[in-house]
Amino acid sequence: MKKSFQAVKGMNDCLPSASKIWQYLEKSLRNVVSNYGYEEIRTPILEKTELFCRSIGEITDIVEKEMYTFVDKGEESLTLRPEGTAACVRAGIEHGLLYNQQQRLWYIGPMFRRERPQKGRYRQFHQFGIEAFGFEGPDIDAEVIALSARLWKVLGFADKVELQINSLGSNEARQNYKQILVDYFSNHTEKLDSDSQRRLLSNPLRILDSKNPDMAELIANAPKLTEHLDETSKTHFEGLCKKLEELNIEYRINPTLVRGLDYYNRSVFEWVTTDLGAQGTVCAGGRYDGLIEQLGGQANYGCGFAMGLERIILLLEQQSDIQTKLLSAVDVYFCSMGEKAETYSTSLAERLRDQYDSYRIQTHCGGGNFKKQLKKADQSGAKIALIMGDNEVENDTITIKFLRQDREQVELSVSDLIDQLGELLG
Ligand code: HAM
Repeated sequence: MKKSFQAVKGMNDCLPSASKIWQYLEKSLRNVVSNYGYEEIRTPILEKTELFCRSIGEITDIVEKEMYTFVDKGEESLTLRPEGTAACVRAGIEHGLLYNQQQRLWYIGPMFRRERPQKGRYRQFHQFGIEAFGFEGPDIDAEVIALSARLWKVLGFADKVELQINSLGSNEARQNYKQILVDYFSNHTEKLDSDSQRRLLSNPLRILDSKNPDMAELIANAPKLTEHLDETSKTHFEGLCKKLEELNIEYRINPTLVRGLDYYNRSVFEWVTTDLGAQGTVCAGGRYDGLIEQLGGQANYGCGFAMGLERIILLLEQQSDIQTKLLSAVDVYFCSMGEKAETYSTSLAERLRDQYDSYRIQTHCGGGNFKKQLKKADQSGAKIALIMGDNEVENDTITIKFLRQDREQVELSVSDLIDQLGELLG
């Protein structure tokens, strides 16, 4: 018998039964980024290896041991991209998008890291990311975070994720702090595991990131970076905290949050959930103001995040109403009875489509009483049914029935309905 094949370890097929949830997620992501005026960028999956060594950093887990790298026909070393920021900056410099300019970009696609596969951690995984270039102040940091917070709201798991933030300060402040850390940990080398001993001289900040419970106390007592920040970074961080408060976005300052890639400075953040076991970080990012210059461009500011889509799918799959969300090809189902009501509802549906081009509005066709029409409305997956009969035509009103919420139906004037449809759909 001939040998059959299996996918490469840690790399998954997406079968038709799963593609619906992916499409639902991708559509929600695209809606939110366009809502904030971000534009899509697509870059190749392969880049020169040097790009990642110079940006992510030589002494990081990714570059040291996780990249899929090969020499192309004996000529140059290429690497399957392990993340999207470096390629975005490379493309931005190459095509003159970053020189004295402001850009708001987003991307989606597969990334590759040769990690030990487990639930939520794969060797080919998918990231959705945004990168904003050319903005100095903390307002962009807050916007980037607000965009991610809106996504959780849209996807329905805002209560499952916690925002953790920290500031890494300027490069100089971080260099000074590294020395303070080296001094501290050098006095306790017997308590460091072998990974941390190795990092002590090469990348001491990463010791703070260790998940080894035997080192938890040592790390908790380590000097805090926030206490050694330069004045400008301190003001920047306070500005970010203030903006988040104004936006009603809850956060926790985590002084040991340092990120696993070397390009960050000032604000860094992660969205973390306790619902996914060990792989609980669903989104992570921050500022990287030195990266453009480091990769050969003229210095300019950068800030962004990337989220792991497989982890978000795992969270979505835990939702009890996910099947209804996926079923729903429709947001609004329009029921009407009586000749006048039917004519009126057809033209009102057109007006609503003019006003709200992203909502899916279906009008009932084929007659039948309201009971039959409402059954159809329910089967369509719509969130609300709009009901128009003789009474409503006479009073210039419309009745709204909430199909997925425990909420009394309401009667609104037609003009209020046109104004409030977005709110009614939540
Ligand atoms: P990162 O923390 O390496 O940051 O990855 C971002 C997110 O990708 C993680 O929080 C996680 O959700 C997901 N992820 C990472 N590795 C895996 C994996 N092996 N399997 C499944 N999901 C994974 C970056 O990549 C930065 N480029 C983020 C960024 C953009 N910073 C500024 N702009």
